[in-house]
Order: sequence, then structure tokens, then C-alpha cells
Amino acid sequence: MRRVLVTGGAGFMGSNFVRYLIDHTDDHVTVLDRLTYAANRGSLDGVPDERLIFVQGDVGDAAAVDELFAGSDAVVHFAAESHNDNSLNDPRSFLDTNVVGTYTLLEAARRHGTRLHHVSTDEVFGDLELNDAAKFTESSPYNPSSPYSATKASSDLLVRAWRRSFGVRATISNCSNNYGPYQHVEKFIPRQITNVLRGLRPKLYGRGENVRDWIHVDDHSSAVLRILENGEIGETYLIGADGERSNREVVEMILEVMGQPLDAYDLVSDRAGHDLRYAVDSTKLREEFDWAPRYRDFEAGLRATIDWYRDNEWWWAPAKDATEALYAARGQV
Ligand code: NAD
Ligand code: TYD
Repeated sequence: MRRVLVTGGAGFMGSNFVRYLIDHTDDHVTVLDRLTYAANRGSLDGVPDERLIFVQGDVGDAAAVDELFAGSDAVVHFAAESHNDNSLNDPRSFLDTNVVGTYTLLEAARRHGTRLHHVSTDEVFGDLELNDAAKFTESSPYNPSSPYSATKASSDLLVRAWRRSFGVRATISNCSNNYGPYQHVEKFIPRQITNVLRGLRPKLYGRGENVRDWIHVDDHSSAVLRILENGEIGETYLIGADGERSNREVVEMILEVMGQPLDAYDLVSDRAGHDLRYAVDSTKLREEFDWAPRYRDFEAGLRATIDWYRDNEWWWAPAKDATEALYAARGQV
């Protein structure tokens, strides 16, 4: 029996990963999560008590982290401040959690010799031109645009330095945009779905031309588990599912599936420094581990996600009004 510590396990990708581990391994899981506004304890409902310990705490709390590392065989680090729009308005917590928090985990991994997988984003590479064949690879240069991506880039570089200087047994993954159940309503796809469910119009930044490379969160979980178990220490792996779509295409698909006119959306003011396009080349992951995404039909995955939000208003409704009030205060409505 392995005990795996998952930081940020009450967030979107962390909670989906915890469920994936429970379903696909015999592992016992400890979640360390500060329960910020982005967390939802309900995202772990149904995970059997005998396989889950939940600890409310901060990844920057060195004493708490040290104790948890002492009792863990492996650590998967999801905890982060994760929303670009918030990072433009109030970057401080991004530095505290994403940089100092990751440093705190690395020091504990160094002391205890613990295997650590660091979950990161393709946004560390900056952006690509629209209508271009280029994609990010493991050797793309770091060129982050926003406070969020700059702090994630910093955390990746700390992991690399702690590997090289202190021999920490770490791997890194950089993934494209995830979608699926339990994603906070501040993020693009859940915001638009819940807007339609509330009788509000979807909101596209700028002209809706920006492109994101979508992957279902279960495919992210399967890739991370492969890397945790078989990844080469010190290596970085890009995770992606060849799911490039413009934001406008995604909104039109949501409107169509939800029975609304295709033009029933608003164009709102653009995000400062808005990255144009992300696209991930995941050849290394696919070839080394024979990994492939299971959700290859984006529309089918989106339909299932829409059904999930329709059926689970209890989960998202408490955060919806406050999130829209914040967007209204920033003029993004
Ligand atoms: P999220 O915002 O949904 O969840 C983050 C979780 O971390 C929350 O439960 C929050 O309470 C917790 N947390 C925040 N600060 C903490 C602290 N100081 N100590 C302990 N817990 C803390 O984020 P997400 O979308 O699930 O992203 C998870 C990870 O994946 C992040 O590292 C993010 O950079 C990365 N990532 C996200 C995407 C995406 O599309 N969402 C894509 C690639 C990589
Ligand atoms: P987001 O979910 O914030 O993820 P990221 O910034 O990490 O890519 O946004 C995805 C894309 O959708 C991004 O191009 C910004 C855009 N967007 C909108 O057009 N409208 C919205 O209401 C939101 C939240 C995002």
C-alpha cells in the first residue's frame, strides 16, 4: 500500500486526480489543501473515508509540510493560485503559494528523499501565433506572460534546480487547458455553461479569437499517474490531447448543445496581455508510456460536462454570484 500526498486535492484537477487514484490503484491518499475560495470540500464527496485523510493547511507551512512528507511515499503537487484574471488584479498570493509554497515542498522532499511530481502548465512557454503549425515541446524556451504563468515558471525552475543541486527525486508535467467536472465557475468553460443555465449570456474576451488546446481532466489524471509511476527522475513531460479550438468555437458549441442561438453571446473587454494561442506536442509522453487520451471527441466531452453542471447546481451555485460580481467589478460582463 502506497500513501500519496496530493496538495490542492480539493481543487478542480487535484480532486479529479484523487478520484482517479482511488479508482485505479490501491493507494491511500492524504490531501493537503488550504481551502481557498477555489476549493470545494464537496469535490471529494464519495471518496471512501478509509482511503482518504483530509488536512486543511498551507503548502507554505514548513512544519505541517514536513510532518506530512514524513508519512508519504510520493507527493503530487497541484496546489496553486490558478486563475490568470485574478493574478492581474492581486498577484501577491500567486507568489506566496506558487513560488514559496513549491520551495517549501522541495525542502521537505530534500530532507525526506520523497518522490515528488510537480503539476504545471504550458503557459510557462508564453504563447504562439494564431494559424501556425508550431506547438510547444519540452525544449521550448520559458517566456511567461502573466503573473500567474510567471509564478508557475518560477516554480518549475525551482524544481529543476532542487533536482540538479540537491538530487530531489522530481518530475514535472506541463499541461494544456483542462475541462471537466468540478471546475470553478471563474474558468472559461464552466463560466459560460453556468451563465446559460442562469439565463445570462456567455462572455467572450476581445474578439474570441484566442485559441486554447483542450484536454479532459481524466486524461490529465491518467498521464500524471503514468509519470508518477514510470517517469524518469529529472524529466519534464508535456501533456496534451490535440484539442485546439478558438474560444468563439467553444462558446458556439456550448450554445448549440444547450439549445441557444449561436450568436447569443457578448464580446467584453479583453484580458491584459492575453496569450493568443497555446498548443502542446505530447509526443514524448505518448511514445515513452504508450499513453493516449481517452476523450478524443471534444464535443462529447463537452456535452458530458454540460450535463454535469446541469445536474450539480448544489456544487457550483454558492460560488456563482460572487464570481460574477467580481467580473462585473472588473468590467468583464
Ligand atoms: P484550482 O484553483 O481549481 O485548485 C487549486 C487548489 O489549491 C484549491 O483547492 C486551493 O484551495 C488549493 N490551494 C491554493 N493555495 C493553497 C495553499 N497555499 N496551500 C494549500 N492549498 C492551496 O486549480 P486547478 O485548475 O485544479 O489547477 C491545479 C494545478 O494544475 C495548478 O498547479 C495549475 O497551475 C495546474 N494547471 C492547471 C490547468 C488548468 O487548465 N486548470 C492546466 C495546466 C496546469
Ligand atoms: P481561462 O479558463 O481563464 O484559462 P487560461 O487563461 O488559463 O487559458 O480562459 C481560457 C480562455 O478563455 C482564455 O483565452 C480567456 C478566455 N475567457 C473568455 O473569453 N471569457 C471568459 O469569461 C473567461 C473566464 C475566459
